[in-house]
This record gives sequence, C-alpha cells and structure tokens, in this order.
Amino acid sequence: TEPLKIALAGLGTVGTGVVRLIETNAALIARRARRPIQITAVSARDRSKDRGVDLSRYAWADDPAELAARDDVDVVVEMVGGSDGPALALARTAIAGGKSLVTANKAMIAHHGLELADAAEKTGVALKFEAAVAGGIPVINGMIDGAAANAIDRVYGILNGTCNYILSSMEDTGADFADVLAEAQRLGYAEADPTFDVEGIDAAHKLSILGAIAFGAKLDFAGVETVGISQVKAADIEQAHALGYVVRLLGMSELERDPAGDRLFQRVRPYLVPVDHPLANVDGPTNAVVAEGNFMGRLLFQGAGAGDGPTASAVVADIIDIARGEKGPAFSMPVAELQPFGKAS
Ligand code: HSE
Repeated sequence: TEPLKIALAGLGTVGTGVVRLIETNAALIARRARRPIQITAVSARDRSKDRGVDLSRYAWADDPAELAARDDVDVVVEMVGGSDGPALALARTAIAGGKSLVTANKAMIAHHGLELADAAEKTGVALKFEAAVAGGIPVINGMIDGAAANAIDRVYGILNGTCNYILSSMEDTGADFADVLAEAQRLGYAEADPTFDVEGIDAAHKLSILGAIAFGAKLDFAGVETVGISQVKAADIEQAHALGYVVRLLGMSELERDPAGDRLFQRVRPYLVPVDHPLANVDGPTNAVVAEGNFMGRLLFQGAGAGDGPTASAVVADIIDIARGEKGPAFSMPVAELQPFGKAS
C-alpha cells in the first residue's frame, strides 16, 4: 500500500518528538493506520542544531512554505507555533494546495480555526489539532467521537500545565510565584512568552477550541473572560487551604439553554476547588478535563498536557486518522451561533 507522506514544519520539542515516535513505533503505526507513515521532508530555523535524531534521510527546507509546494507531501504537520506569521501562512497554503494539515498550534486555531476549517472543507482536506488542547490527552477526539451521542452541559478543567505546576508548587513549598515560574521555564513547560501561561491566555486558547468542539458552537476566543494567576499570593493559597480548598486555574465552558438563543459561558480564572474534588489532586504540570454529558454522565480525562512524548502522541494520532481516510471536518458538529455570556446581543 501507498505510504502516507508527511512533512514536518518545526523541529523543537514537539517536532523532534514526532520524528522519534514515528521511527520507534513505525511497525505498529503502519498496522493501525493500515499503511506506512513516511516522513519525506522537514523544516526548521537552524539546520545545524543537534536534536538527537538523524534527519539526513529527509529532504530539508529552510523555509517551511516550501513544504506545501512539494509533490511528495500529502500532509503538512505544523509545529512552528505563533497565531499568525509563518505558521498561518503555511497552514493556508497547504490547505489551499490540497494538503491536509495537522497542527499543535492552539493560538493559531483559537484565532483562525474557523477560517482554516472552511478552507479545508472547500478543498476537501483534513484539518486536525488534537495536540493543541491538553497535549497528550485525547480530549478533542474524545468529544468528537466518544461523546458524539451526548448533549454536553459543561466542560472544564486544568488546561495549562505551567500554571498548575506553579500553583501546586506554591502550595507544597510556600515558595514565591517568581521562583516557581523560573523553575517551570527551566523544565520546558512554559510558552516562549510566559505571560501567555500566567495570564491565562494559553488556557483561553485551549478552552475556546474545546468549547467549540464540545458544544458545536462557533469558535469564540475573544468571548473568553480571562484572569490569570499572577496576582495569586502564597498567603491566598494558605488561607484557601485553611478553609478546605486548593487554588487551581480552570477553564470553564458551559451552555445555558434559552429559548431566545443558547448562550455560551467561557471563563478562565483561578478557582477555589474543594480538596475532595478530583481536580484538587491534579498536581504539577498535569492537565485534566471534565466533560458532562446528558447520557454519559461525568468523564474525567487526565494526563500530560505538555512535553515531547505526550504532545507527539496526539500529533501522530491525527496523522493515523488521516492515513485511515477518516477525514472528518475539523468542527464536526453543527456550528451554531451562540450569544457569548455577558455581552449584549
Ligand atoms: N505552556 C503550555 C502549558 C504548554 O504550560 O500547558 C502546552 O500547551
């Protein structure tokens, strides 16, 4: 059988993880995908950098845009990052040129997901972004496939590993915010610009995508009310603890059904979580998502929200879906227009 030919744009933590995963698990991936997955070309900023993987058998492009123009590429995998710029240019050209797009880029999907999904629908290609929300946790496919028969009432959870690491470390050690942030950066969880993490923007990107999928609602990043954790003091955490709570940065998306037009409530902010709630025991850089449906009840997804292995696992799951021919529109449920909460119609 014909292999599925893929090109990788961006060879940072995630991109290198994808190379390693595809090489290590090639045989089982080919079985499950029902055809081999073959990397044909790669692109990154710095060719000479040692990434611990052998890239010599793949064609090299200095400019990621070249990947979209190659005949030996069926799927472009975008791991460059950034909501606009080269990542968006590559996504648009790849899709317009009839290539499927897999991306780990939450900022780009939060801002331009509807445009890209429309374009993908027009050219008949797949657009997939499992890795954009909660890293290795298959929460997008879980909602699209596993929960497909349910009306979803509420979806919420811990969507930023850096904040969860900071809050749980402050709780354990009484350390100051700034010291713990430096440690999270050293461990590689934080975004290039850590204000995206600590001000809740990264979690808001993910929440807007998750809510759009869960409710079949129009993707609305601007409608997420966002408060981060930079104002949380060690003393707040201590007092919360004395009252039986821990502090967690949660993203919460909820549907308020109303005959005059359903409304979508989307909020990211520090919440007081009772110590006996399952999310109170999620520590460190872990992510967790709770989804409540009218027939399935309450589901809890928990796992690594960042890191090379887990994020690569989600990227390659999308590639396998495409290899199987499961194209599935990106936002596969009917896209309804909802009124954002608290905004005049
Ligand atoms: N900076 C993100 C986090 C990385 O801390 O969760 C994964 O999206």
